[in-house]
Amino acid sequence: MENVNYYECKNVTKSYGNLTALDDVNFSIGKNEVVGLLGDNGAGKSTLIKMMSGVVTPDTGKIFVDGKETRISTRKESEEVAGIETIYQNSALCDDMTITRNIFMGREITTNLGFMDHKKMEETSVDVLESGVHISGIDSPLKEIGALSGGQKQAVAIARAVYFKRKILLLDEPTSALSVRETERVLQYVTELKKEDVSSVIVTHNLYHAFQVCDRFVVMSHGKVIFEKNKSDTNLEEVTEQVIKV
Ligand SMILES: Nc1ncnc2c1ncn2[C@@H]1O[C@H](COP(=O)(O)OP(=O)(O)OP(=O)(O)O)[C@@H](O)[C@H]1O
Ligand SMILES: [Mg+2]
Repeated sequence: MENVNYYECKNVTKSYGNLTALDDVNFSIGKNEVVGLLGDNGAGKSTLIKMMSGVVTPDTGKIFVDGKETRISTRKESEEVAGIETIYQNSALCDDMTITRNIFMGREITTNLGFMDHKKMEETSVDVLESGVHISGIDSPLKEIGALSGGQKQAVAIARAVYFKRKILLLDEPTSALSVRETERVLQYVTELKKEDVSSVIVTHNLYHAFQVCDRFVVMSHGKVIFEKNKSDTNLEEVTEQVIKV
């Protein structure tokens, strides 16, 4: 079978006044892979993530999904057209909603009469929480999201991606505020997602975490991609050197 990249952006540029946040960037995500997007502060990583999730519109460049040129200009389009789910550290979920409401936000299940089918949503939430990814310490889908730890919140967002059969999960520094144990769980979920046919892009400053889960590394500096290698062709020393290179 031909190995087509699931997602690809070509010659993407984004400027803010005189500052070029993305400078002629080519970036691709294959099937069943975890890509580590690395680089120093201000390198352009979050801008690239936001561009992919439809929050930032590029000035120039093309986007291809499954080989077809695609236009993504809103977050909804990135979710529905490209199958992209994005997890930001704090804003992925609404704290005062139950887990069930969060999982079905914007895509509620309704009865034949058009009313919200709470029972069905709760039952499905139990399935979501118990299958695919196992989230420890959550006993009820009626629990408010605000009562969960950072790692559990991310796990719910990951479960949502699995349930809605997303193709790509974008995680921008997901582990920066997590405990060691929670970090391990989130990294484990990302690896498990490959079995569900979900590829991930993980932005992190922790190269040990990156080496634990990523199949490929892309290093950015001053808005440009300066290095790209498969894990099997590189090592921690080389990647570290690229990240700290000015
Ligand atoms: N909305 C914006 N307006 C103006 N400048 C911006 C905006 N967003 C990003 N930038 C600038 O673009 C550059 C890239 O920022 P970006 O947030 O993508 O970096 P990053 O690689 O995610 O860094 P960090 O590791 O610190 O999160 C920075 O110089 C930043 O100041
Ligand atoms: Mg950032």
